[in-house]
Amino acid sequence: YYLGVDIGTSSTKTILIEPGGKILSEASESYPLYHPKPMWSEQDPEDWWSAVCKTVKAAVRKAKVKPAAVKAIGLSGQMHGSVFLDKNDKVIRKALLWNDQRTAAECDEIESLAGGRKKLIKMVANPALTGFTAPKILWMRNNEPKKFDRVRKILLPKDDVRRRMTGTYATEVSDASGMLLLDVAKRKWSTTLLSKLDLDRDLFGEVFESEDVTGNLTPDAAKMLGLTTDCVVVGGAGDCAANALGTGVVNGGTLSMSLGTSGVMFVHSDEMKVDPTGRLHTFCHAVRDKWHMMGVTLTAAGALNWFVEAIAKELAAGKKDPFETLIGEASKISAGSEGLFFLPYLAGERTPHADPNARGSFVGLTLSHDRGHMTRSILEGVAYALRDSLAIIKELNVPVKQIIASGGGAKSEVWREIQAGVMGQNVVRINAEQGPAFGVALLAAVGGGEYKDVTAACKATIKVVEKTSSTAAARKRYDAAFPVFQDLYQSLKADF
Ligand code: XUL
Repeated sequence: YYLGVDIGTSSTKTILIEPGGKILSEASESYPLYHPKPMWSEQDPEDWWSAVCKTVKAAVRKAKVKPAAVKAIGLSGQMHGSVFLDKNDKVIRKALLWNDQRTAAECDEIESLAGGRKKLIKMVANPALTGFTAPKILWMRNNEPKKFDRVRKILLPKDDVRRRMTGTYATEVSDASGMLLLDVAKRKWSTTLLSKLDLDRDLFGEVFESEDVTGNLTPDAAKMLGLTTDCVVVGGAGDCAANALGTGVVNGGTLSMSLGTSGVMFVHSDEMKVDPTGRLHTFCHAVRDKWHMMGVTLTAAGALNWFVEAIAKELAAGKKDPFETLIGEASKISAGSEGLFFLPYLAGERTPHADPNARGSFVGLTLSHDRGHMTRSILEGVAYALRDSLAIIKELNVPVKQIIASGGGAKSEVWREIQAGVMGQNVVRINAEQGPAFGVALLAAVGGGEYKDVTAACKATIKVVEKTSSTAAARKRYDAAFPVFQDLYQSLKADF
């Protein structure tokens, strides 16, 4: 048996699978998120570890399997977060998370120390963004110098859990890419950038490929997790790459479109390709010697949640599912929402605008629009925002033959039809719904010798179960509306 553990921002989710991929049990445990100042976002690594111990024990207990039969664990987790450890492996301060926005000055500092944005992209394939790890490290050096002097190791969230499990300081290529310190082309630390930033290579762990074994459980960890020291921990993956594995995006031409609170367009690429202007992230994939490009829309299915909670609250109190009601109304409106547009930038936007000040907007309202139009324009607006990423992917000549939709926003057929129309190609759904946790459970199965590699593991376990297409008329309508959607941000951005 194999465990997949996903250390998310709101909770840790653990699943236990059979070698053939069937999920036998799952358990989750939530923890607090701290915002000591507006736009700051932190969590306590101790909370992650206690959630991991609880959910691993619960998953093994629920599945009624013998602890000794659990052969390997795969770790996934929120990317980019920074765990700072002292010489005794004590956590020095709460971890700064991926959605923390305090590091704008350090992003500028990194670009200038690197010799400019172009040179930085050459070294680590990406520009400096506030969410990435390197700016968080410099922030601590600039703002908490006494604490920074005590730092001996800096680990990503899931890699701190690995340290507690195996006693090793290690990471893997997909998550390490998001630190902005990895030479993404060579899949090892960029010693050039580390020296320009005056950061010691020894602050960081050893870099593995995602399916490689990074160590066995220590006797203490085995006790705390209710497992044995024969159990190994594989590299695992950052949650985006793990979700791609869990939805079968492991071959050229496949793209994972995941619509959770935020939306991610993640495309597999056999070669490394870089957007010279840095709009898309280029990271190592969790597939050996492959890469991926990724665009992130900060509000995807979250826009519909907002609409229910802020505007259609009375629906939430009723007996019928509020989303079904709204989407039912939207399905009666024709493609294009009769000229109404929605910009889904309720939390600012990452791809393609990298603009924390971007805002959500309805544009084009008339007396004849009603709630159905507004809902439909939200569904369309989120799809347009994701098409912005697809357009850059296509501009870089990365092939996209199959779009695999997952997450809450993939459940509705009406929305999938809109997505197929806006993207101009079919959208498929697959049999697996556990995303990141399932992806890393498959990596664990590879590490345990069950499959030759993760591509074989995905092929054996993940199948397309549904295909959604759109009419030519709707596609035409969306093709005409998309440039208008793009223009609206340009016209409004100075006023946001
Ligand atoms: C990816 C990113 C988020 C976190 C959230 O770049 O910032 O998806 O990994 O879990």
